[in-house]
Amino acid sequence: MLRRPDPARLITAIGRFASRERDGRDERTAAWLGAALGVSFTVAFVTGLISHFMQHPPGWAVWPSRPVGLYRLTQGAHVIGGLATIPLLLAKLWTVYPRLWQWPPVRSAGHALERALVFPLVGGALFQLVTGLFNIAYFYPFPFFFTTAHYWTAYIVYGALVVHVANEWAKVRGLRPGHGSADARPTGPSRRGFLATVAGACGLVGLTTVGETFTPLGGLALLSPRRPGVGPQRLPVNKTAAAAGVRPDPAWRLAVTGDVARELSLSLADLRAMPQHAARLPIACVEGWSAAGTWAGVRLRDVLHAAGVHAGARVRVESLEAGGRYRASEVDPPHWRDELTLLALDLNGEPLSPDHGYPCRLIAPDRPGVLQTKWIARLVVHGS
Ligand code: HEM
Repeated sequence: MLRRPDPARLITAIGRFASRERDGRDERTAAWLGAALGVSFTVAFVTGLISHFMQHPPGWAVWPSRPVGLYRLTQGAHVIGGLATIPLLLAKLWTVYPRLWQWPPVRSAGHALERALVFPLVGGALFQLVTGLFNIAYFYPFPFFFTTAHYWTAYIVYGALVVHVANEWAKVRGLRPGHGSADARPTGPSRRGFLATVAGACGLVGLTTVGETFTPLGGLALLSPRRPGVGPQRLPVNKTAAAAGVRPDPAWRLAVTGDVARELSLSLADLRAMPQHAARLPIACVEGWSAAGTWAGVRLRDVLHAAGVHAGARVRVESLEAGGRYRASEVDPPHWRDELTLLALDLNGEPLSPDHGYPCRLIAPDRPGVLQTKWIARLVVHGS
């Protein structure tokens, strides 16, 4: 026969569960995991903002063209660090979730506020990691635009994290010696063993993805959607010519127009007749993968000087692609004046394949792949 539950016993049982310090779920474990999450979310927040402001620069900021691989490094750290954070966040949630059931649920106005903060903190953190993961896997089961949602949620989650860490830091500093230590836990894994397992899981995720940008470990990049050396002309491609709706046009010409002393209209033969230069530069994708190729073609600055542009001009590089969010990109003076910035015609010793932007594409140092416009049709100079 079923007995009716005794509310007093139920509350006591919930209270015991909520405050249990067995199985590695003690305050110091939670604090260590929290500190590691604080570091990884700070890296993600800062590198994410770098990526955002590179693509949408405010009027006062100019992104440098050197070091050549800076964006490769920041966005690789963003995505690979973000993926390695997934086991860390799961471990933290496992450690603290019994406290969601603490009784009484609210002890004071301050405590109510602290608990209300859990929603943007946990919800926002899960949202960032899950949408980020789906994005690099090219899986979009959500109705919103990933980048906008991911960008604004970053402020919410990071703001909530700063308040949470400040609050918990004060509590952890007040812990008695021995409280929450190994001797307070009669059963379950030791704290050190648990933390080592979590660190191992994070390291394993990092090791099986870092090869997507660190070429010597490319063979280990089992979890990466893209790998260096795999793709047409041994370089990965995100958007193919077919997906962009671009077909080779024998009558193709490059137009140079806008604020110029002389408008130009150059055929492929005209471009090949100009001084040719080579540069070893990476395509560094916003999705974290990157791979270097040897590009050859004409310096962008040579073409712009031939058209007669002012040193402070900005250039809009437009693609043959009819639509799409990334059919054009802006090039600021530090980039177009850089000798490594090319209107590339060749990749790894052969003419560009259609998927790499035949007949002509932009390749510049320290710039996200989405801004390395392919299938160039026009250069529009402005701001001179
Ligand atoms: C698994 C973890 C994560 C992955 C895989 C990931 C992936 C990405 C990707 C692919 C982008 C580039 C989007 C684009 O420009 O098209 C991006 C941008 C960004 N991420 Fe993450 N991310 C992760 C975690 C985080 C976290 C934890 C934060 C913040 C605390 C964050 C903040 C940002 C910001 C601010 C941007 C710039 C968005 C923009 O361009 O407007 N990310 N992330």
